[in-house]
Amino acid sequence: MRLFKLPFKNSKESTADFTETVSENMPKHIAIIMDGNGRWAKKRGMPRVAGHREGMDNVKRIVKAANQLQVEILTLYAFSTENWKRPLTEVEYIMKLPIDFLQHYLPELVDENVRIQTIGEFDDLPKNTKAAIMRAKEQTADNTGLILNIAINYGSRFEMIRSIREICQEVQEGKYEIEEITETTLSDHLYTSHIKDPDLLIRTSGELRLSNFLLWQSAYTELWFTDTLWPDFSKEEFEKAINDFQKRKRRYGGI
Ligand code: IPE
Ligand code: IPE
Ligand code: MG
Repeated sequence: MRLFKLPFKNSKESTADFTETVSENMPKHIAIIMDGNGRWAKKRGMPRVAGHREGMDNVKRIVKAANQLQVEILTLYAFSTENWKRPLTEVEYIMKLPIDFLQHYLPELVDENVRIQTIGEFDDLPKNTKAAIMRAKEQTADNTGLILNIAINYGSRFEMIRSIREICQEVQEGKYEIEEITETTLSDHLYTSHIKDPDLLIRTSGELRLSNFLLWQSAYTELWFTDTLWPDFSKEEFEKAINDFQKRKRRYGGI
């Protein structure tokens, strides 16, 4: 693999003396299932929520790394539609994390030219969580660096159902015929309609499943798993996942 130096472009600040190693064939869209916060805390005799806090701190590190590596889109699975099954105290704690995260980190994200977006049923989030995220989306709307796409209250199956409902509605309204429905029609109705499918999907914590994450979008995504628990997932390991991706041959059913 050939590595070469590029100026760090994903920032509004002067970058004249800043170079970052970026290699050819970078994945443009990386999605991460940030799993293992609870086990990280348990191993240390701490409550699960301590793992979520530590996990939030790691989001900062990985966002920074992704931006420096000139990744275009980083989709982070923060809360699934199934995670509402957890004890109320844990859910409430997780829902407060974006508020805390953005309170401390939004100015830096603005400076770093990061644009914040979300996928998932946004309207069903608690009011304060929604407000904090809305503010962050507005303040970063014109940024042109990394898209930080947070999957919150996200579930792939519901996303597809929602799309199908919209498509049925449009057919009923006579906008197009059933026979005209294609893969693009469905893609265009997903939360991710405006972004390309992930090139690389990483899951931490040793679980080898997708847990209702980007099922449609990851049809040809390269998967990468590690036993490392999310709070311990480092920039170095992130780069290793990217390096492994770069060695793979994507065939998309061809030869
Ligand atoms: C991932 O960590 C964070 C969320 C699902 C919100 P977990 O909380 O699932 O941690 P484990 O899997 O129990 O260790
Ligand atoms: C997936 O992790 C969801 C997030 C990381 C937000 P889970 O911990 O909820 O997944 P399962 O239950 O182990 O499949
Ligand atoms: Mg888990």
